[in-house]
Formats: sequence, C-alpha cells, structure tokens
Amino acid sequence: MSDMGAQIRGLGDQLRWVAEIRPPHLGTHSEVLFAGMGGSGIAGDYAAAIASANTTRLVVQKGYGPVPTWATRQRPLVIAASYSGNTEETLDLALSSHEKGLPVAVVTTGGRLAEMGRERSWPAVMVPAGLQPRAAVGHMVGATLKLLEGAHAIDDQRFALVEAADLVDATVAKGGRRWEEARAIATRLVGRICIIYAGGPITSPVAQRWKTQVNENAKMPAWWSLLPELDHNEITGWETLPELTSQSLGIVALVDRSDHPRIRARLAHTARLTQDAVPWVAEIASEGTSPLARLMSLTAVGDLVSWMLAEAAGVDPVPVATIERLKELLAEDHS
Ligand code: PA5
Repeated sequence: MSDMGAQIRGLGDQLRWVAEIRPPHLGTHSEVLFAGMGGSGIAGDYAAAIASANTTRLVVQKGYGPVPTWATRQRPLVIAASYSGNTEETLDLALSSHEKGLPVAVVTTGGRLAEMGRERSWPAVMVPAGLQPRAAVGHMVGATLKLLEGAHAIDDQRFALVEAADLVDATVAKGGRRWEEARAIATRLVGRICIIYAGGPITSPVAQRWKTQVNENAKMPAWWSLLPELDHNEITGWETLPELTSQSLGIVALVDRSDHPRIRARLAHTARLTQDAVPWVAEIASEGTSPLARLMSLTAVGDLVSWMLAEAAGVDPVPVATIERLKELLAEDHS
C-alpha cells in the first residue's frame, strides 16, 4: 500500500510550517474571490468559514471565469489556489480577474499558475510540492489564511495554526482516542456508501471534505447534505427503498458548538424519523477553540476514515487515475 497514511500523519507539520510564514503585504480588503478546484478548492471553503467570523466576505468560485458581476464592481482581492498550478478552471478565472484589473494573489507549488504570477508580479505563497493536492490541505488552507492576513481580512492565525496542528497530531496518533473513533466509524461503514450530514458554518465545509476524501482515497461514492435544507426534501427520499438503503448506506453527522440550537434539534428528529431506513453510524464533534482548529480536528478524523475505508477495500488511496485521465482528455481537445 502507498504512503497516504504518512501524508495524513504529516498534516500537523504542514500547519506548523505555515504558522512560520510571514504574510505578504496585500493592502486592505474586506471582499475576496477565491478560485480553486477539488483538493485546492476546499481551502477556500475553510477560509470562507474563518473569514466570515472576521466580517470579511469570501466567495468561492469553483469553475471558469467570467469574473462575477459583483466582483467587477466591488474589486475584491482574488486568491487563485492550485496545488499543481495547472488546473485550467483556476487559471482561467485568475487570468479573467487580472484582465478586469483585479488584484490577484496565488497559492501553488509551481506550474503554469506560478509562471503567470511571476510574469504579472502577483504575490504568492509557494507551498512544498510532492504530495497529493488533497493531502496538502494543511499547506493550502494555511497559505490561503496567510494571504488573508496580508490583506487585513482576518486576524493573525498563528495561534490557531499551532492549536490546529496539535489537535491534528493527537487525532492521527495510532491507537489514540480519536483514531479509535475513526476506526469505529470506518468499521461500521465498510461495504456501505457514506453520507455526511452537517449544518453549521464549521461542519458544512468539512462534510464536503469527508465526501471528497472518501471518493478519492477509498474510490467509493459518497455524498454530503446540509441541514436545515435536507429536512425540506432529502428526508422524504428515505421512504420507498428501506430494504436497499438500510443495507447499503450509512450516515455520519458532524457537529460543532457553533451549530444553531435548532440544527441540533433537527439532527435528533431527522435521525429518529429515518433510522429504520438508514443506519446513523456516528455523530462526531469538533474539538478545539479556534474555528481553524475545529475545522481541522474534524478534517483529520474524516481523512483517517477515508484511508481506513481504502485499506478495508484493498485499494491504493493515493492515485486518482480517473481524474488524471479526464485532464488528459481535456488537454487533447486543445491539441
Ligand atoms: O485531489 C485532487 O487530486 C483533485 O481534487 C485536485 O485537487 C483538483 O483536480 C485540482 O487540482 P489542483 O489542486 O492541482 O489545482
């Protein structure tokens, strides 16, 4: 088997590495447009959760340009994040933003994005190469936060980065309490499609991360749905196929102390109403004080669960051949 386990165990060190970086000077911005996809794009979702606690509006655009109309008017800082530096959607939005005269800053390891940035003098935080993009989430989130600090869009995150690093280290320590929680969840999910329910500012982006980690590490379908919206539609979807759904699916609920009290009530009622049709495998709470630590504590558990599911299925969690193949096919369209 490959080294995804080591990459997950390195997450705390990534956060510590970023804590030492001095933020670049980017002026003052209270509006940010974030461009990034997949394992890099999640950094924008996490940064948005932190920015909103700092009265900054950070909008994540996962896709190509054009620059949205609000941005041409409000002139936000544009952060383009791509681990490889070669993701076409991110490059497209970065370039469209530059052409509209918006300030662009970059998080990457290199590639075309680094070249474009050098040619246009875009400030950049360069992160170390050599990991899978999704396994570099500590670097990508932390570097994005450094850019936001440099734009006076959020508070200094040094203590939060160290708190998050310590919590992640404790979580991924083999045989520790959180490791065992992850193992119990993974054991109950073996042979099932994992569904993640969440409903708060911290848990919602992490639910997406859990889903995509199960997809990419375990090569299994998974999805996430958010409360309260799912109580207005998805809840009825459990009615007709209980023999199938009770055997083949499992729900994990993520909770955080910032969840609205009515979200907690909804989770309990939703579980009660649907438990005959779908097993509620676990409810797992964030740990820590800062928003970043709470995000990363739940992230680490999800990363472990996805890795354990890969091991149980006997698949190598590292390669993402289908994503690579799709990128090749798209590149051939241009040649
Ligand atoms: O996890 C992955 O490999 C993907 O989700 C990539 O992150 C995604 O394709 C975007 O690539 P990059 O992160 O290099 O911009």
